[in-house]
Amino acid sequence: MVETSSPRVLSGIAPSGVPTLGNYLGAMRNWVRLQDGYDCLYCIVDQHAITNWQNPAELRDNTRIMAAVLIACGIDPEKHILFHQSAVPAHARLAWIFNCVARVGWLNRMTQFKDKAGKDREAASTGLYVYPNLMAADVHAYHATLVPVGDDQRQHLELANDIAEKFNHDYGVKFFPRIEALITPESARVMSLRDATKKMSKSDSSDQSRINLMDDADSIALKIRRAKTDPLPLPETFAELKDRPEAINLLGIYAAITNATPAEALTQFAGGGFGPFKEKLAEALISHLTPISEQAKKLLADPAFIDTTLQSGARRAACVANPIVDEAERIIGFLPR
Ligand code: AMP
Ligand code: TRP
Repeated sequence: MVETSSPRVLSGIAPSGVPTLGNYLGAMRNWVRLQDGYDCLYCIVDQHAITNWQNPAELRDNTRIMAAVLIACGIDPEKHILFHQSAVPAHARLAWIFNCVARVGWLNRMTQFKDKAGKDREAASTGLYVYPNLMAADVHAYHATLVPVGDDQRQHLELANDIAEKFNHDYGVKFFPRIEALITPESARVMSLRDATKKMSKSDSSDQSRINLMDDADSIALKIRRAKTDPLPLPETFAELKDRPEAINLLGIYAAITNATPAEALTQFAGGGFGPFKEKLAEALISHLTPISEQAKKLLADPAFIDTTLQSGARRAACVANPIVDEAERIIGFLPR
């Protein structure tokens, strides 16, 4: 068993678009906070991104934008490790082993595959089907034990534990540790501005459905003004918001961004209509997000800096992952490399 000194944190995000306010409140903000207590690895999962078609030039741009936004949000690429997945082949090596450990029946139960493949499952890539095995490899290649993710990833992390347990059992070793999901509370789930029953997503076809972390002040203001709402005034208590998903979503965003509870946020606007509330919401978002997008834009003016930062992260990541994956290959009977 490779010893780890303090628990290691690892998480991943796909560069399948520009990161959104949902990614920020549901993931990135926690990633930044975890840096104070743990050694963290944050991986831009380009290999996961291509499970759905990506235009190559856009994939390159989106990978750099993701890195720039993460650094602008406060990820420290020197104290911690920020890298792109394809630059560390240990992920793909371990994923292949896990393809041979995980069972077809296990993958058939993955609800995200069913959602993402949609009606025409036969036309989905085989990569999309085995995606959870690659995600398990992302974590186990580092013996990371703490994995901050949104609630939608819970099932994938349970699978990662099942894979580790079967590997350990089949080869009679105690090699891969159990991992613990650090799940952001359901309240941190940000919904689409056009349809509050759907998650805000960087890959949604409508740009009006989301706030992108690169949006300027005018687009933020416009998107919030146009966000779908209902004609009723805002009530006194949160309980009265039941069945008003748009209002719940916008108040939740306001609360999260101003570090208040949703109930506290509501008291400021109770009895009023959405107009004045939306103005305050747009103001709060602009003052919080504009420094991030401006910093990201500055970083993106020097793509070579982003590339060398990610490459240096990848080299350091490989130093952790290679001995672990070498040992996994030794355990299963591969000759040394
Ligand atoms: P993805 O955008 O699917 O690559 O997700 C990257 C991370 O952001 C994961 O931990 C997700 O759970 C989180 N995330 C994505 N969209 C949202 C959202 N609308 N609200 C909250 N968290 C989200
Ligand atoms: N599948 C995750 C998502 O869609 C992203 C991801 C890939 C990930 N590899 C990971 C998250 C490893 C945590 C750990 O959000």
